[in-house]
Amino acid sequence: MAKVDCDLSVSTVPTAPIAGQKPGTSGLRKKTKEFMSANYLANYVQSVFNTLIEMKTPVQGGTLVVSGDGRFWNPEAIQIIIKMAFAAGVGRVWCGTGGLLSTPAMSAVIRARGKGFESFGGFICSASHNPGGINDDYGIKYNCENGGPSPEKMTDLMVEWTAKIAEYKICDKIPDLDLSKPITYDLGDGKSVEVFDCVEDHLAVLKTCFDFDSIRGLISHPDFSMTYDCMSGVQGPYAIKIVEGELGAAAGSCKNAVPLPDFGGPESAWHGHADPNLTYAVELVRDMGLNKEGLPIASDKPIPKFGAAADGDADRNMILSSQFFVSPSDSLAMIVANSDLIPQFKDGLKGCARSMPTSGALDIVAKKKGIECFEVPTGWKFFGNLMDSGTHYFPDKKTYTPFICGEESFGTGADHVREKDGMWAVLAWLQILAKKTEKSGKLVTCEDVANEHWKEYGRNYYARYDYEGVDKAKSEEMMKMMSDKAGSLAGQEFGGMKMKTNDIFEYVDPVDGSVSKNQGIRYIFEDGSRIIFRLSGTGVAGATVRLYLEKYEAADGSLNQHQFEVVKPLAAIALELSQLQTYTGRETPTVIT
Ligand code: G6P
Ligand code: ZN
Repeated sequence: MAKVDCDLSVSTVPTAPIAGQKPGTSGLRKKTKEFMSANYLANYVQSVFNTLIEMKTPVQGGTLVVSGDGRFWNPEAIQIIIKMAFAAGVGRVWCGTGGLLSTPAMSAVIRARGKGFESFGGFICSASHNPGGINDDYGIKYNCENGGPSPEKMTDLMVEWTAKIAEYKICDKIPDLDLSKPITYDLGDGKSVEVFDCVEDHLAVLKTCFDFDSIRGLISHPDFSMTYDCMSGVQGPYAIKIVEGELGAAAGSCKNAVPLPDFGGPESAWHGHADPNLTYAVELVRDMGLNKEGLPIASDKPIPKFGAAADGDADRNMILSSQFFVSPSDSLAMIVANSDLIPQFKDGLKGCARSMPTSGALDIVAKKKGIECFEVPTGWKFFGNLMDSGTHYFPDKKTYTPFICGEESFGTGADHVREKDGMWAVLAWLQILAKKTEKSGKLVTCEDVANEHWKEYGRNYYARYDYEGVDKAKSEEMMKMMSDKAGSLAGQEFGGMKMKTNDIFEYVDPVDGSVSKNQGIRYIFEDGSRIIFRLSGTGVAGATVRLYLEKYEAADGSLNQHQFEVVKPLAAIALELSQLQTYTGRETPTVIT
């Protein structure tokens, strides 16, 4: 315990509302310079505290977690939040070493650290996979006592506060604290800051989910090799400690494993977009012997048998085997199909869920296995209530846990935390491969698992087209034009395919009854093929139109075609239905994945 002699007096600083402080799919994200401008961060943080106090959260004397993904300006922002937390009455602040905590680790810390001192929530300083740096993006998310993102009723209150805020409070005489190594600072008056190893809590939770010995066995198999690209995001310390340390992967298996404030910046192969997909994870995709369409290319180096990548805050994952890409929708369905090989689910799965645009591969598995399956809007927060069913939050509700869920946007996870979890997804795959390898005696790869899966369940060919940085007003007009036609196209033919329904997706939460309207436009055809349009809720400038394409091929059909080719006829229909080229002036998407 290090005693810090400091003045804990609270300064009240007058301020005025700043327009546009409204969180999107995943917290508040803006240009870094906007966040750094006078009172911007303080207004938002104070609005969160005001909301918490209004909601009777035990802020007074309570424990709060503050950390982030290591991006530019995090060190400064974390010190400001600590000083404001004490001014709001917080008793103890927890930080990961270096101010680092991945998003799933934050969730694990909030839920599981220091029994008896559980924290009431945490601030994650991250804009996820968005580039970091003074000219790029900054973000902040508040997670609640269950370790999950704030629900909509809470973010609505925060937004109300941002519109009426008149002052914020800060203990501005507390000196900046060194967060680089584990230590506890005693600030006096019952207030303390505890810095702890950023990996330990997450690792402890993961150890309860998986059989580390069996994964170690796979990793030491003479035919096995792997690479894990951390893309200079926060996953580095976790990957080194867990994959190379605990599981014994060869030194150097974890690449780009030092967190950088700009995630490698413009000079990196991924131009600072620490986003694990076929377009941005350039180094990994090349090392796995693929091009950005996911097609095999010649390689002059040995190709690892298993490959993975994580985004800036390490909640996303991408999974590959040699010259083979596992699409995220398939990854989710395959993990659920093989969940009996994962100790976390030894007593059986009770529920699973996907976001609406994620392919229906999961539904087919769930139906065959008799597991309850939910379709929710895009955004991890929608999974939270399902995971909390049957707990002290919703004691009267039927429980859906143990539970697995995921999204097409490279997010997969389960109810061990309340965030998607990049490391969990990697370990889930390694666990499945380990158990199958133990059984068969020869090394089983992700490609083997996929082929076996499609032969049993059929294949949902899938692709997502992103049109990034398009004009916001024009893309909203386009969405409105399609919305106005909802319900009117059933029975009509498009490109030789008959439309079954076209609607606007709306979700009624089965646990708390809350309704989320306007969650994307769906065109569903007679043969089960789907075309979906959404506007991204995570962008910072302009708008991103997302177009999701899906075509189902039955188990006795042609299962080894290229996914991007199979969905091309659907893309042509989608462009006709949306008039996208006319509205946005774009001929081609910026990202296909
Ligand atoms: C974040 C959220 C996910 C969401 C993804 C894409 O990662 O946590 O739940 O699927 O963003 O969201 P967007 O609104 O950009 O499609
Ligand atoms: Zn992320």
